Amino acid sequence: MTIDEQAIGDELGDEQVTHADDETLLGRVDVDDLEAILAITNTDPDEVEHAVKDNADAIFTWDYSMQRPHLRKLYEKAKVGQWNATTDLDWSADVDIEKVVSGDQVAIAAGIDPGLYDDTVIGHWGDKEWLDYGIQNRKWTLSQFLHGEQGALLCTAKITETVPWYDAKLYASTQVVDEARHVEVFGRYLDEKMGGGYQVNAHLRMLLDDIINDSRWDMTYLGMQVMVEGLALAAFGFMHQMTEEPLLKKLLRYVMADEARHVAFGVLSLKEVYEGKTDAEMRDRQEFAFEAAVRMRDRFLSQEVWERMGVAPRDVLPIVLKDPTRDLFQQMLFSKIVPNCKKLGLLDRNDKWLRHRFEEMGVIQFEDWEDTSEEFLKFEIGADAPTPVAGH
Ligand SMILES: [Fe+2]
Ligand SMILES: [Fe+2]
Repeated sequence: MTIDEQAIGDELGDEQVTHADDETLLGRVDVDDLEAILAITNTDPDEVEHAVKDNADAIFTWDYSMQRPHLRKLYEKAKVGQWNATTDLDWSADVDIEKVVSGDQVAIAAGIDPGLYDDTVIGHWGDKEWLDYGIQNRKWTLSQFLHGEQGALLCTAKITETVPWYDAKLYASTQVVDEARHVEVFGRYLDEKMGGGYQVNAHLRMLLDDIINDSRWDMTYLGMQVMVEGLALAAFGFMHQMTEEPLLKKLLRYVMADEARHVAFGVLSLKEVYEGKTDAEMRDRQEFAFEAAVRMRDRFLSQEVWERMGVAPRDVLPIVLKDPTRDLFQQMLFSKIVPNCKKLGLLDRNDKWLRHRFEEMGVIQFEDWEDTSEEFLKFEIGADAPTPVAGH
């Protein structure tokens, strides 16, 4: 949503539920229009700096009393859950990328079964090309994790400023340090072990821009803590489960312990806020959640990997979208987001608007999986973390 649309929405008042169509929300009439999705690309691959207006007031509070013990509990957990990326991980180990990527079956983990592409434009690919695809895919995926982590770093710095609650400011400040550590580990792993990575995917950048751009403090939480981090927690868990590379596995496990707290912070905070929202206000949040879900789904088409492999994405993606392996992948992505949206009351308000959209996206089946408001305890270092697909 642009700032102008937001201002118009605000002027309409609380009681009028406005309906944005998909063209307004997504910039295309058909959600699944592949040509329109692929038309969104990174136009400046050499960009090193990207400025976004954050449109928000920094809020002081003079009420230092403990109003929200559940957030203070998270804050206490965060203080003792800190780890040091420099000393807690063994960076001296060599990583043999080819061995790791073939051992981890990276193509399959990315929702692609190489055996199904014999009659396609990549039918001539042999082991060498599939291995190269796997390496590029691993680099691309870790790069998008890295850029998303920087988005989280900026978002939680913003939340520290904009949230009016003292307990939440304290907690958010610990998350800023967590996210710095996450940027540090993914950046270092890509640089030292993978030989460099990819620029930010344009769909991910649009989403991060929209989240930062929105003036309403709860939208930062919804976009980042619930949607982006909900997906990240699941995606990290999936890679953690699939990889046998010890450094990456341990790194992901440490990051997941933090991310589970972050998603809990979002869910616990927004639960309180959304209970008091009008239908019109909730519709805005539902639309924002839907837009975020579509942007994340679009980014996972990983169009830049196909381009790097010399294949036009439009020639292969229609087949990828029908690959049954992709179902498992899609399940993994939305397994945290959907139950958390349900917990927040986002699925069923306004005639079940978001429920219907998640039905169309084929992800509603996760609505009764465990939400993440308490799950962070299971993710603490030393605990046996739940697996993303089988462990609900
Ligand atoms: Fe993070
Ligand atoms: Fe996070």
